[in-house]
Amino acid sequence: MMKAAVIGTGMMGRNHVRVYAGMESVKLVAVADPNESSAMAATHGYRTTVYTDFTRMLDHECPDLVSVAVPTQYHTEVAREVIGRGIHLLVEKPLALTQGQGREIVELAADRGVKLMVGHIERFNPAIVEIKRRLQKQDLGRLFQIHARRLSPFPARIQDVGVVLDLATHDIDVMRCLLGSEVERVYAEIERKAHRSCEDLLSGLVRFTNGVIGVLDINWLTPTKVRQLTVLGEGGMYLADYLTQDVYWYKNSQTITTSAASSIFRGVWEGDMVKIHFQKKEPLRAELDSFVEAVRDNREPYVNGRDALMALGMAQKLVESGHSHAPVYLQPIREAVCQR
Ligand SMILES: NC(=O)c1ccc[n+]([C@@H]2O[C@H](COP(=O)([O-])OP(=O)(O)OC[C@H]3O[C@@H](n4cnc5c(N)ncnc54)[C@H](O)[C@@H]3O)[C@@H](O)[C@H]2O)c1
Repeated sequence: MMKAAVIGTGMMGRNHVRVYAGMESVKLVAVADPNESSAMAATHGYRTTVYTDFTRMLDHECPDLVSVAVPTQYHTEVAREVIGRGIHLLVEKPLALTQGQGREIVELAADRGVKLMVGHIERFNPAIVEIKRRLQKQDLGRLFQIHARRLSPFPARIQDVGVVLDLATHDIDVMRCLLGSEVERVYAEIERKAHRSCEDLLSGLVRFTNGVIGVLDINWLTPTKVRQLTVLGEGGMYLADYLTQDVYWYKNSQTITTSAASSIFRGVWEGDMVKIHFQKKEPLRAELDSFVEAVRDNREPYVNGRDALMALGMAQKLVESGHSHAPVYLQPIREAVCQR
């Protein structure tokens, strides 16, 4: 059985603790957090060791794999120590504060030969898995638009990053994953209303190289939590709710063929609406299962460093566009990320 550990037992890390503790393929040997009471609370009821210094934990426990769930600004320094000891790691999203720091983590992991996965958890949401499966069968024919709404109240504990890096990276990654396409250019309007230093509202437009338009409606200024995605194509529209894991299919009654190559688009008429049935699962459990299997089977993780760098780079370009009020092209990022 492989030995797992968690570094950082705050809001997200304690979920990693809970999920590892319930897995049969790993033994949760330790957690580390400078805030001892947070670590004690996170591990209450589990047989595992608590450390306040994560380097001591790594040296004493020699875990095979580690989740890094410290605030984003510390990802690079923690990842450096983990990778330096040859330990496989899952770093929470976003990979780092900047593309430069993210690239350092990716290169260190590649040089040391350790698996690096990044916690873009929404890919593992069964609603997204189901939509991806259906898109691969070309159920919607040609795609027109993909639209993400991710709205929440303001989380006062997040001071190191803005809403684009913290939340929009989820949707950027899901869009790339579903479309299998890279981004050509972005345009964004951003606002800062409640955050001390960063933006907390994004209205973003993304043009993918396959022609699909992405819309990002993301903020920390809404007094209710919304997590939705729509995918619109000639066959109709899928609507996914990440929170309930429900998927609805609104059919275009005019579409006759479903093959992208042969369909003739005749316009749109309202058709049936179907709630799709599929197996639900906790996304974090699916993510950690996937990480553990990648380590065990010596496979490339499902969300790798390149994916995380693309999400990070695009997030930075959205912020850049928000400040410059001009579209920003992504080709330089694609080329830089693809160099390795
Ligand atoms: N995948 C997701 O959906 C998701 C959701 C929430 C947060 N996150 C990510 O998880 C990370 C942590 O976010 P959070 O909301 O849990 O933050 P948090 O502030 O609630 O918790 C962070 C914890 O890390 C600890 N910490 C700080 N420095 C440390 C160090 N050097 N070694 C060990 N522990 C250290 C802090 O004491 C704290 O307990 C962030 O990168 C965030 O973006 C991801």
